[in-house]
Amino acid sequence: MHEELSRLQAEALAALADAADAAGLEAWRVRYLGRKGALTDTMKLLGTLPREARPAYGQAANEVKNALEAAFAERQEALKAAALQVELTGAALDVTLPGRLPALGHLHITTQTLRQFYAIFAEMGFQVYDAPDVETDEYNFGLLNMPPYHPARDMWDTFWVTQGSPDLSEKPTSARELVLRTHTSPGQIRVMRERCPEPIRVILPGKCYRYEQITARSEHQFYQVEGLAVGKGIRLTDLVGTLQQFARRMYGAGRRLRVRGSYFPFTEPSIEADMDCILCGGEGCGVCKYSGWLEIAGAGMVHPTVLRNGGYDPELYSGFAFGFGVERPALMKYDIHDIRYFYGNDLRFLGQFG
Ligand code: PHE
Repeated sequence: MHEELSRLQAEALAALADAADAAGLEAWRVRYLGRKGALTDTMKLLGTLPREARPAYGQAANEVKNALEAAFAERQEALKAAALQVELTGAALDVTLPGRLPALGHLHITTQTLRQFYAIFAEMGFQVYDAPDVETDEYNFGLLNMPPYHPARDMWDTFWVTQGSPDLSEKPTSARELVLRTHTSPGQIRVMRERCPEPIRVILPGKCYRYEQITARSEHQFYQVEGLAVGKGIRLTDLVGTLQQFARRMYGAGRRLRVRGSYFPFTEPSIEADMDCILCGGEGCGVCKYSGWLEIAGAGMVHPTVLRNGGYDPELYSGFAFGFGVERPALMKYDIHDIRYFYGNDLRFLGQFG
């Protein structure tokens, strides 16, 4: 009878040596050590033996069981170690390989230009004031000294915004109330009404919209940076000095500024500020259309009516205002020939201004 046990042990150990992986090992365990396995079968024989033979047989069977369990544990460890070895050598991480560079983005060229505006005007004490893109007709025109039917409104081809009623063409012009702001100047009224009677020194950056043909030189959306200073004793020379300082900080120390008379309904007097061409320095070239000068801003002294609309008494207060384009100076600075690139979302273009 004990031979039967030895034979089982020998067979089981031989089979164990053939178990090559976790699955084989598990199959082996079920077959020999499982509840319905070979060892359990041999235990069942115990009942058929004469009483005095039982203890010795039981002890022998237990020894076989212990031996098989120990062998199993050992084989399991060995297989685990082998698997680890394969993993360590086979799928090794080669730390000497150069890494993959993540594709880093950067700010849009317009945002970069805007931030240069903020920095330069901050040096001169101007805060940034945020005003809405969707304006009322009153703020965009009326309070800026352009009542309905004022011919100066023609300077700004306007997008009208529908509110409830989709077909504006059905309505008379006087019933059109909301616009996409055609310039940042309506923000002037908002700051004045908020700050009055405090002195004001702010810039108002933001997007403007005009109902215009899109060409290499004009877009239907673009940025402006408005400026407004209101206080006691502010004069035209303060405006010119501010614009000159900006031009020198933005485009180089030697920049010259030229001022021409102009017209805006919300400034009196009104001026147009030109700067000597950054490309040719005034000699005349394609960028300045052989004039030697580049137009950089519309500006002027805040019109008394506008001051009054903002809550300030024009007998006591005065102020200046200016409006810069943002894309056009960037076009000049980087010698870009088409304004549509700014909104084209073409990474080949945008990527050049990192
Ligand atoms: N709002 C004017 C424009 O869009 C520019 C401007 C601003 C002129 C402030 C004078 C003062 O053309």
